[in-house]
Amino acid sequence: MTGYGPVDVIAIDGPSGVGKSTVSRAVACALGWRYLDTGAMYRALTWAVLRNGSSIEDAVDVAVTHPVSIGTDSTAEEVLVDGAHVETEIRSAEVTSAVSAVSAVPEVRLLLVEAQRSLIGDGQIVVEGRDIGTVVVPDARLKIFLTADADIRAGRRAREVGAEATDVGAALRRRDGFDSSREASPLRPALHAVVVDTSDMTQDEVVAHIVSLARLVVS
Ligand code: DC
Repeated sequence: MTGYGPVDVIAIDGPSGVGKSTVSRAVACALGWRYLDTGAMYRALTWAVLRNGSSIEDAVDVAVTHPVSIGTDSTAEEVLVDGAHVETEIRSAEVTSAVSAVSAVPEVRLLLVEAQRSLIGDGQIVVEGRDIGTVVVPDARLKIFLTADADIRAGRRAREVGAEATDVGAALRRRDGFDSSREASPLRPALHAVVVDTSDMTQDEVVAHIVSLARLVVS
């Protein structure tokens, strides 16, 4: 699909806790487009690896034998493994601490990127992740790199989950470091991505900004 010129995809990448999911879902709703949370796919696979007692090295085998199925409806995000709903389980602390290692396995990324491209299909979709603009859809109509000061992200995430900002901050920095320094598709802004620093913006302002940029580039 890539290499054929711009496709109706809005790629939203950025580090943990920057508000990608809320913003991406709201942008998709505003445009009447679908929404794909690629992080949920890496999380679901990680959940399956942990449940099977498999090692990280075997993650790609688990991906083949227990394929992840994910919905692209922005109002009902279904995530299934072996036909079982795992929307809640994939947000556990156990999955969160193991997901960076699983997502750093190059063969895992090849498989999931292929699955993501097939879900994207003809487009009209907002896709969020870490490598959407750099790898999954480099020809996306609009590429956004969301960023915010690490302490601000930790504060936002801590309020969401009701935890201490310092603990959340340490975990968040660890994951950022891992995701940005891995060899396979490290987190970084794509070529021509619009970098949006949300440190001093409300979520509504971020959504309005991205929707207005989207309206300039899609008909
Ligand atoms: O966005 P999230 O926190 O749900 O993502 C979970 C992990 O998955 C994150 O640590 C990095 C990884 N990930 C990735 O490597 N590539 C993506 N496109 C999306 C997520």
